[in-house]
Amino acid sequence: MRLSITILKDYDSVSREGADVVAGVIAANPAARIVAAMGDTPQGLYGELARRSDAGELDASGLFVYQLDEYAGVGPEDPRSLAGWLVRSFMRPLRIPPENLVLLPRDADSAAYATYDRSIAEAGGYDLVILGIGPNGHIGFNEPPADGSAPTRAVALSPASIASSARYWGSADQVPRRAITVGIAGLLKARKMLLLACGSHKNEIVRRALLGPVTAEVPASYLQEADEVTVLLDRAAWNGS
Ligand code: GLP
Repeated sequence: MRLSITILKDYDSVSREGADVVAGVIAANPAARIVAAMGDTPQGLYGELARRSDAGELDASGLFVYQLDEYAGVGPEDPRSLAGWLVRSFMRPLRIPPENLVLLPRDADSAAYATYDRSIAEAGGYDLVILGIGPNGHIGFNEPPADGSAPTRAVALSPASIASSARYWGSADQVPRRAITVGIAGLLKARKMLLLACGSHKNEIVRRALLGPVTAEVPASYLQEADEVTVLLDRAAWNGS
């Protein structure tokens, strides 16, 4: 187990350092299987990768991209879907062909989600998982309580997640009440995990997740049990100001 925490000056430094980590994974395996979170935090990293790709410094076009989470009942063609955002902000700028996108099962039963988890494990698991952290300690949409054995499944969104998704939907009442998420168990099996957090509003939850007890009440705390985790924070996320 190896957990490294790096505190950087600001958001741009986190984005650049994060891009170095992803570039290292691509250099070692141009066909790596990557889970790329949506949310605001990793967008700078994705923009930096796109810049390097445009400059000919990086070829990410052989990656296989796996969806982390999705609002229930929202198809990939819906611009508010997380899959749509993944295509716009990660796949297209990096010239990754659409057929390299692996979507989560939709409107499935628990047997179908279990089959999905098995198919990922049989393919060799994820090479890299890029994560943000929700205000209540969720990773993906693994809302508390969720422990290290949580499988891929449909979940009810917590009031905190509905409130933080409201900005993408216009208002909280328009946010779907349910979502689908890759489970913590599948994420923890990844060869490498990269967690990004920036801003003083993440300070308390970052400290609970990284320094507190491993508990289902803070799903991100299970990262303390993963094989290899790189955490990149800006000063505000670490210090609170
Ligand atoms: C969202 C997503 C997560 C994301 C997190 C943090 O609800 N489900 O995958 O990492 O919240 O988002 P942000 O980076 O915008 O703070």
